[in-house]
Amino acid sequence: MGTTADELRDEVRRRYAESALAVTTGSAGCGDGSCCGTEATPAFGEALYEAEQRAELPDSAVLASLGCGNPTAVAELRAGETVLDLGSGGGIDVILSARRVGPTGRAYGLDMTDEMLALAQANAAEAGVPNAIFLKGVIEEIPLPASSVDVIVSNCVINLSVDKAAVLTEMARVLKPGGRIGVSDVVAEDDLTPADRAERGGYTACIAGALSRAEYESGLAAAGFEEIDVRFTHSVADGMHGAIVKAVKTREPARKGLPIVRPAVSAGCC
Ligand SMILES: C[S@@+](CC[C@H](N)C(=O)[O-])C[C@H]1O[C@@H](n2cnc3c(N)ncnc32)[C@H](O)[C@@H]1O
Repeated sequence: MGTTADELRDEVRRRYAESALAVTTGSAGCGDGSCCGTEATPAFGEALYEAEQRAELPDSAVLASLGCGNPTAVAELRAGETVLDLGSGGGIDVILSARRVGPTGRAYGLDMTDEMLALAQANAAEAGVPNAIFLKGVIEEIPLPASSVDVIVSNCVINLSVDKAAVLTEMARVLKPGGRIGVSDVVAEDDLTPADRAERGGYTACIAGALSRAEYESGLAAAGFEEIDVRFTHSVADGMHGAIVKAVKTREPARKGLPIVRPAVSAGCC
C-alpha cells in the first residue's frame, strides 16, 4: 500500500485499469476480485441494478459495473438536465443518465483511468447515446465550469479519493444553485475509527477510505449543501454499509449565512 497521496491514487488507478482491461479482454468480471469488494457479492456490482436497466445496456457496461449502489435510481433526472458522474468507470451510470435526460440534456462521465475511459466510450457508442461525454481528470479538480451541472451522481468512488474535502468543495462549485447530488458510496458507522475501517478491507477495495456518516454530513454541510440525507442500504462489512447520499446545493449561501468553505474532512480518513 502506498504511503503518499500520489502513491495511493496511482494504486487506485492501477487497480481499476486492470479491471477495465479484464472486461475489455473478456477475461474477468466483477467476481474475480478486481473491483470494489473482494468477491462476487450482491453488495457490489451489476446485481444492484434492476434487470430492466441491465437489459438496456451493452453487456460490457454491465460487466464493468463496480459500484456499491444504483445512483440513477435515486437521482431524479429530468429531460434537458446536465448530469455529471464522478468516477464513471465503464460508463453504466452515464449511459443510464444520458437516456434519462434525453437529447436536450447531457451526461458527463469523469474518470482518471485511461483504460476505463476507453471502455466507457466504446460502451456509450454501442448503446447509441451521443449525449454521453467522457472527460479525463480527477474528481478533486473537476474540469467543468462553476454552476454548470444540475445533478451529480457517483457510484463507489468518493471513498477512493485521497482528498475528500476537495471533492465535496468541487461538487459544490460545479453544481448550479439548487443542484442535487445522488451518490452511492460505502459509509462507516460513526463509532468505527479509521483503523477499524482499515481492518475491514483495503483502500482500493472501497472499504478503508470510507467516510463515516457524521463525516459525510458535516463535510457536505461545510461545502454548502443542505437537505443532507445519508441512508444505509445494505451491509458491506461489519459496521460498514452501501449508502445513498443525497443533498442539495444551497440556493442562497450568503443570506443563509452558509459561506462556501473548504470542509474539514480528512483526506484519506484511514
Ligand atoms: C469502484 S470503480 C466505480 C466505477 C463506476 N462508478 C461504477 O459504478 O461501475 C471506481 C472508478 O473511479 C475512478 N476513480 C477513482 N478515484 C478517482 C479520482 N480521484 N478521480 C477520478 N476518477 C477516479 C477509477 O478509475 C474507477 O473507474
